[in-house]
Amino acid sequence: MATTAEYELGEFTFPRGWFMIAESAKVTDTPQGVKFFGQEFALYRGKQSGKVILLDAYCPHMGTHLGRNSTSYVSMDGAVEGDSIRCPYHAWRFGPDGKCNQIPYSTGPIPPAAKVRAWQVQEHMGAVFVWHDPEGGEPDYELPVIPECGDPSWVPIAFDDLGVVNCHTQEILDNITDVAHFGPIHGSTTKYFENEFRGQVAVQRMGGGHRTLTTEGGPLLETTATYTGPSLLITKMTGTHDSYIYIAHTPVDDGSAYVWHGLMVKSPTGQPAYTEQDVEIARQYQAMALAAFAQDFEVWKYKRPNIRGLYVQGDGPFLKQRAWYRQFYNPRSMRDEILKPVEGIYHARGMDGAPTTQAA
Ligand code: FES
Ligand SMILES: [Fe+2]
Repeated sequence: MATTAEYELGEFTFPRGWFMIAESAKVTDTPQGVKFFGQEFALYRGKQSGKVILLDAYCPHMGTHLGRNSTSYVSMDGAVEGDSIRCPYHAWRFGPDGKCNQIPYSTGPIPPAAKVRAWQVQEHMGAVFVWHDPEGGEPDYELPVIPECGDPSWVPIAFDDLGVVNCHTQEILDNITDVAHFGPIHGSTTKYFENEFRGQVAVQRMGGGHRTLTTEGGPLLETTATYTGPSLLITKMTGTHDSYIYIAHTPVDDGSAYVWHGLMVKSPTGQPAYTEQDVEIARQYQAMALAAFAQDFEVWKYKRPNIRGLYVQGDGPFLKQRAWYRQFYNPRSMRDEILKPVEGIYHARGMDGAPTTQAA
């Protein structure tokens, strides 16, 4: 694994953006410990509001982890009270704003330093996201909405939790520009391919055959894969079934990432409201999509870092993509300067662009 500094991405070790940290369904009123951006956090769902709360992990009293305990009587009796959480060691209680609001055994005042940082989180399409910004600013973009989310004719998203991969997120980002891997890795016969970079968005448009996701002589598999920010990739796919692939990756340490995969599928049997049979077919299709993603994942797991690739004609606009990714590792004030030489549409040499767009 290599670090952000080795890829020369910018002055921040971890990027700015919205990052998935959990599946919504897995966040309950039992606190859990999670690690992202090289830091420990406590994550739980408030009993009173039902809202997800993310706090810095360590209690200011004596440094106990608020999210990694199961044997204290505080934990066994339920550490979450209303929207507050009690430390398992001496039972100080912290509100959703991170401020200590009760010290059960002390009659003196609560010291102002008795607080932990509370992070900005939101639940979005079945997942929990945190806003991470080394400059401490407010979000400068919104998470994308899949228009069919909540439509009864679509089988809702289900997630595959892929855990930690020991490679820098840059190697995962590279995938969006990697036109030449589709044939060897996925068995695709690429008919057209292009990338577009605009602001915080990076797009890949591709069409062709695919050995696992469509049948021989079957419909053309057409995908539009869109990064909104540095970590969430949503791919609209038409082929055997209309679907959206959801891939989210969040840095754990400098050089590793937590990865989720998910799929939303339009009722395969064409029902206005999806049925159990649709769910079954959708899950089989998801397993195939996951198998396709696992083909990439296996490479990332074992490869050495690609700090400076030996790129040749036909490789796709890797350097543009890496330059685009730098916007998230540098102060916002540098964004325009970073994006100026990057924004536009790029075709891989020898490959047609998408039928719906024009070359820049
Ligand atoms: S260490 Fe948390 S209450 Fe003492
Ligand atoms: Fe791939």
